[in-house]
Amino acid sequence: MTRDPVRQSIKALEPNGIGLVAMMGLGEKDLIPLWFGETDLVTPAFIRDAAKQALDDGKTFYQQSRGIPQLREAIRGFHKRTVGVDVAVERISLPGAATLAVVTALQILCDTGDNVVIVSPIWPSIFQAAQMVGAEVRFARLDDDWRASPPSWSLDLDKMFSLCDARTKAIFINSPGNPTGWIMPREQQRAVLDFARKRGIAIISDEVYGTLTFDGKAHAPSFLEITDADDNLFVINSFSKAWAMTGWRIGWLVHPARLEKQLGVITIANNTGPTTFAQYGALAALSPQGDQFRDEMRERCRVGREVVQRFIDGQNRIRWIRPEGAFYGFLHMDGLTDSLAFARDLVTRGRVGVAPGSAFGPSTAEHPDAFVRICFAQDPALLAEGLARIETALAGV
Ligand SMILES: Cc1ncc(COP(=O)(O)O)c(C=O)c1O
Repeated sequence: MTRDPVRQSIKALEPNGIGLVAMMGLGEKDLIPLWFGETDLVTPAFIRDAAKQALDDGKTFYQQSRGIPQLREAIRGFHKRTVGVDVAVERISLPGAATLAVVTALQILCDTGDNVVIVSPIWPSIFQAAQMVGAEVRFARLDDDWRASPPSWSLDLDKMFSLCDARTKAIFINSPGNPTGWIMPREQQRAVLDFARKRGIAIISDEVYGTLTFDGKAHAPSFLEITDADDNLFVINSFSKAWAMTGWRIGWLVHPARLEKQLGVITIANNTGPTTFAQYGALAALSPQGDQFRDEMRERCRVGREVVQRFIDGQNRIRWIRPEGAFYGFLHMDGLTDSLAFARDLVTRGRVGVAPGSAFGPSTAEHPDAFVRICFAQDPALLAEGLARIETALAGV
């Protein structure tokens, strides 16, 4: 038999549950889609117009591989406005989408056989990207405390640190978190930073939901606020969520200053940079009008969160740990033991799309497969109807 050249870590990849369910009913008219991490709002007109104008102006050529200078400068302004930190443009690169920023950070850090410690439950593409580059994934599971008042997620740092060894290259933290809405408190960030500095471990801080918080602050605590320019910190950010631009595939990476040259090479080798005309849309998103849209988006999420809360208040089999940020409800259903089968059934019979909890890596020890995730950044009436359909279907489980 001839040699199989395909890497073992690629052969081991399996489609994640969100995609498996969504492909069953994507685009079907009578189905309410709550499965993806996106609002039902179309990208605002002023952003679309800027990209259209760029096309009409002939912005269809290769550009600077790390992003056009005016966009990188505008991202610098975004960080100043939201977290009060002046991040030098040398540290800002746009590899393409935020997803590619995740892959890029992992490519920079991991050789085959290294490991990455990832706080879970977590959006599956994160750990699949780590597996793709050949790293071993170690999950540091959040604890769900339902007896606390209010119920809360918490991270046991000692437990997480005990997962790290000489082959640990990175700790991956997504805060506010997908799917939980958990926000890592500042004291924990400091402790993680201390540990990571001592051990020569990088921090990958996924802050794509950073501005979607419900505590009145402009941004959740960011690692940018407590680190130096050459710390081994990689911050992931995206235009997708706060500006309703999921289909644009554009996001950015903040990286250590000393890696500027390498990023120039990597962004060329991976994608020759982000899509040119999409960058002009992104530039418009960072204007004052874009800031206003972000505020409206946060408000839409706040309303959506209340719609889910009211629904849950009337349930006896469905509960949640009320999210502090992002735009997801990670709903716990008493008696559910197979979230993928339930999500499939919701597509075929319930006509509502949810993401099965099993897609997000280990969640809770007690009820490992009793969750589904919904995105609540939706029209409130449609959201309420989707929830009612879930309730009806659950009655049959
Ligand atoms: C935690 C997290 N990181 C990164 C991304 C990727 O964002 P994008 O779609 O902009 O590539 C997502 C998207 O859902 C996400 O939830």
